[in-house]
Amino acid sequence: QTIKNGSFTWSAPSNIALVKYWGKKENQIPANPSVSFTLNHCKTITTISFLKKENEGNFSFDLLFEGKQKEDFKPKILKFFERTVEYLPFLKDFHFTIDTKNTFPHSSGIASSASGMAALAVNFMSIERLLNPEMTEEYFNRKASFLARLGSGSACRSINGKVVVWGKHTEIPGGSDLFGVEFPETIHQNFNNYQDTILLVDKGEKQVSSTVGHDLMNGHPFAERRFEQAHKNLSKLKTILQNGNLDEFITIVESEALTLHAMMMASLPYFILMKPNTLEIINKIWKFRNDTKIAVCFTLDAGANVHILYPENVSVEVLQFIQNELVGYCENGQYICDSIGDGSQLI
Ligand code: PMV
Repeated sequence: QTIKNGSFTWSAPSNIALVKYWGKKENQIPANPSVSFTLNHCKTITTISFLKKENEGNFSFDLLFEGKQKEDFKPKILKFFERTVEYLPFLKDFHFTIDTKNTFPHSSGIASSASGMAALAVNFMSIERLLNPEMTEEYFNRKASFLARLGSGSACRSINGKVVVWGKHTEIPGGSDLFGVEFPETIHQNFNNYQDTILLVDKGEKQVSSTVGHDLMNGHPFAERRFEQAHKNLSKLKTILQNGNLDEFITIVESEALTLHAMMMASLPYFILMKPNTLEIINKIWKFRNDTKIAVCFTLDAGANVHILYPENVSVEVLQFIQNELVGYCENGQYICDSIGDGSQLI
């Protein structure tokens, strides 16, 4: 196949982990399995145009962020090229123009690495498919997830499916450390269109990059017990996602979030990534849940923002609660309403 030029546009979503990935080995191999809900609105949209070069040289690309040249993102992309060229040999044959934007505000404290790396991976897989048109959908998704993982670990959970598992686990047939797979069982209707409202408590740069964060698990005094716990929590969640038990879901999800932060507090150097408003919000959620018996819970990433998870049928009550009681704890009163999505999409 000789292909001279062309372009693709894909959107790829962010995802929110229920069992957290925290700690990794060489080559972006996770220290424990994780599972996430794919999001629907928080997305990166990336167009890649490619033009065959006269002579094979080194990598050559331009990077546009929201239509403007963006030099400071280039090293991340270059790293992606370097890590993936072994699997995408055509990367040196073309000049690429990568034009990317996010549907969520740039400085929102929402990491764009998962959606951004996933969007790159699916675009490059589309180019590979031009060269190798016989590939199956399954091969496409797996390899896209494999490539996304090399960009940013959790990005491998942003390719395909509503609930995605990444990492080997005795109860996940086909589960792999190398790529994410769609949760293998039918999910209970309680989780249909599950909602995630993201409260932007701190929109600043991350205090601890995830590279540094994962590294803190090396030699961490509680690391091995934590990794065992993640395996157990994934087993339990596997049952819960099928039987729809929301009380048990809440227990696992909140415990995972707090454990992630506990690991950071107990590492050397140690970090507190929550802000006072994060704790205010958590306490309000607990009080609201106790008073109303509505199945709303929180989870956290490696930062101060709070993800509020709840079933669609209580949206009206929960949004009212958020507006009345929680907006005041958000920076500039900002929050983002999202819900479970399907994964990356060719546009
Ligand atoms: O993909 P990374 O290396 O940015 O790690 C993300 C880790 C957490 O968001 C804290 C947890 C997770 O599983 O997504």
